[in-house]
Parts: sequence; structure tokens; C-alpha cells
Amino acid sequence: MTRLPGFHRRDLQGRRDQLKRACALEGEEWDALSATPALLEISDVMVESAVGCCALPLGVAEGFLIDGEEVAVPMAVEEPSVIAAACFAARLARRAGGFRTWASEPLMTAQVFLEQVSQAGEGRLRGCAPRMRAALAAPLASLERRGGGFRDARIFRLPQTGAVRVDVIIDVRDAMGANRLNTAAELLRPMLEELSGGRVLMSILSNEARDRLAGARVEIPFADLEIGLPYGMDGKEAARRIALASAIAQEDPSRAVTHNKGIMNGISSLALATMNDARAVEAAAHAWAARNGRTVGLSSWSVQDGKLRGELELPLALATAGGSVDFHPAARASLRILGSPDAPRLSRIAAAAGLAQNFAALRALVTHGIQKGHMRAHAARLAWRVGARGGEVRRLADGLSKAGTQDEEAARALLARMRQGTA
Ligand code: MEV
Repeated sequence: MTRLPGFHRRDLQGRRDQLKRACALEGEEWDALSATPALLEISDVMVESAVGCCALPLGVAEGFLIDGEEVAVPMAVEEPSVIAAACFAARLARRAGGFRTWASEPLMTAQVFLEQVSQAGEGRLRGCAPRMRAALAAPLASLERRGGGFRDARIFRLPQTGAVRVDVIIDVRDAMGANRLNTAAELLRPMLEELSGGRVLMSILSNEARDRLAGARVEIPFADLEIGLPYGMDGKEAARRIALASAIAQEDPSRAVTHNKGIMNGISSLALATMNDARAVEAAAHAWAARNGRTVGLSSWSVQDGKLRGELELPLALATAGGSVDFHPAARASLRILGSPDAPRLSRIAAAAGLAQNFAALRALVTHGIQKGHMRAHAARLAWRVGARGGEVRRLADGLSKAGTQDEEAARALLARMRQGTA
């Protein structure tokens, strides 16, 4: 017998009541799953068996200068230090002109996989791009009016299974494209079967997104790297160490994974804040990093003419319309904070945020180490856990950091002394 009998047949309120009772959810835990009636209703429209909302902390990394424009970057993330790191990097980068970015056209690929296709059938498929364009003219009409639409078709025979893959390339403009591509791919099924004499096995978009790239570049003079370095280390040496860390990420796949995770700290937080499909963005980024058969760092840092120079390019299928992005009010709020960018601009901002995050991580790793920054954040959580509230949290966290302790008893004692006015 299931723990929640009849759960999925109940309405939202019924499911909430049942879950609350069955799992003894109360107090702040229950409150944390709740939201305004309108937001609860939106959750119910967005997903099945909805019971509430799960609110990640949302922060704003301000101070970014991207292609000459001021940008405040909303980030939804559970990890401490990510937003502080982004702000730090943004501040250093802006002194030397900020980030320069680029993005390709928003091209996405729908894929139809066919089996039992003869050589002759494959040949017939090869010439069928004009027929596909015609078949998709009506379903893609609104997209074409906005400058998007069908672009090309490519045929591949997969050597091991013998399956034939038809890639249909569509410019999706400001959308992520999943709905549009999946609809297009399914519509093409009968035509492709008739032409090829084979049978369609499945059709779905590809999350690889290798035709939808975005990138960012930044240069930081040695002198600007000098802020807060350990005693005896100058900006030139910090730059050399960052470039070496970057070369190690190119050489050693086990390090590259962590290097890239740091980049995705920035990109995924922005994807989540705008309610983009962060899983798709992650999947594409990691596949791109391994595109030559070995995972390498997505970014590269080098030393040139008295400056540290960093560059990042990766697939970024980020949308500003469609899906949840212009549906959920929190996503709409994030887009407004970003200055209402179109999809290519959002991808460019994401590339800059990823490069900023990567810079801050590498700089910390090769200078003071990462724990110094993290300990301050852990101290704030410890302060909260032992009962500090409001302004006490920062004061207690500072006291704990200064004392170099993470001990719960010590934290309680310090909080008591603070409240008595003896600390
Ligand atoms: C932690 O979330 C991210 C880092 O591990 C990234 C890196 O090692 O480059 C600090």
C-alpha cells in the first residue's frame, strides 16, 4: 500500500492536506513549502502532483559591465560564496572594460531516428530539405514572422545500430525551442517514413545545442589582480598561477570536471533564476567539454602583455520567451532585473557570469585557498543554527570567523555573551 493513497487523484489542497498529515510537516518546514495562493496555483498548472513551491535563495550579483552595459545578474543558488565571488570578479573586470561577449544565432536541432532504411531510402532523404521546409511552413509560420524558422536538414547513418538520424535545424529566436522542435519532429514522421521506406523509432530535440554557442572574454591587468593577495605575491604571479590552473584543466580531465562545475555555478544559478531548463544547459555544457573524446576545461586563461586574459565559449540554450520563462512571475522578475534581454543577449550574460565565476574560483584556489571565503558563509549558517537572528547573525558570524571556530558550543557561548553585552 502506498504511503499516500489516492494522492495524485486529489486536488492541490487535498494533496497538501494529505502530505502535511502523512509526513508530519509543520512549523517552518511546512511554511517553506507554501506560498501565496496564486503561486501555489501556478505550481499546480506547471507540474503534476504539485504540493507547493521550493524557494531557493535568490541573490543579485551587481556590478557587471558586459559589452559596455551595466548588468545586474539574478542568481538562484543554495551554495554560499557563489554570488559574492561573481560580484568580486565583476568589480575587477569592470576596471579594465568589463566582459566582451558574443552569441551565434539561436539554432536548435530536432532529431528523427529511423530504422530499416535502405541505401536508396537514405539517398532519397538526402535531398528532402525543401520538402521538409514546405511541410513545416505552417507550424513554423509564427516563428518565421519573428525571423526564425526552418534552416536546414542533415542526414547521418549511425554505424553501429544502422539507424538513420535526420537532423532538422530550426532558428527558435527567443525560445529554448523544445516544444517547437518536438512538434516539428513529430509532424515530419509520416513524410520521412514515406520517403525513406523505413520506420520512425523516435523523435526529439537534441540538447547538445552545438549550433547555439555563446562566449565571453575578459582581460585583467596584473595591477588589478593585486587586491587582497597573500603577502609576497604580486599580480603577475597570481596571473601565472591562474593560467597554470587553467592549463591543468586542459590536461587533466578529473580537474576539468571541477573547473567546469565552477563555471556552471554562475550559469546554472542564472538559468534557475530565469526558470530556464538548467538540466539541459548542464548536459550541453558537459558534452561540449568532452566533444573531442576527453573532458577539458571550458574556459582558458593565459598571460599576455601584462594582463591575464580569459575566454569561455559553450552551448547555451537559454530562452527569454516560452516555457516557464515568461510564464512564472519569478522568472519574469529575473528577466526584468536583467534589463529584459533577448535570448542571445541572455546567453551572452550567462557566458560572462560563468567566466566571472571561474575567475573568482581560480584566483581563490591559487592564492588563499577556497576555504577562507567559504568559512565566513558557514559561520553565518552556524550562527543561525544556534539561534542568532537579524543583525546578530552577521555579528556572531564575524566573531566566530575571527576566533577561527566552527564549534556549536562556542557559538552558543559567544551569542550569550553578545546578548549580555559582554562580547
Ligand atoms: C565550488 O562550488 C567550485 C570550485 O570547486 C570550482 C573550481 O574548483 O574551480 C571552487
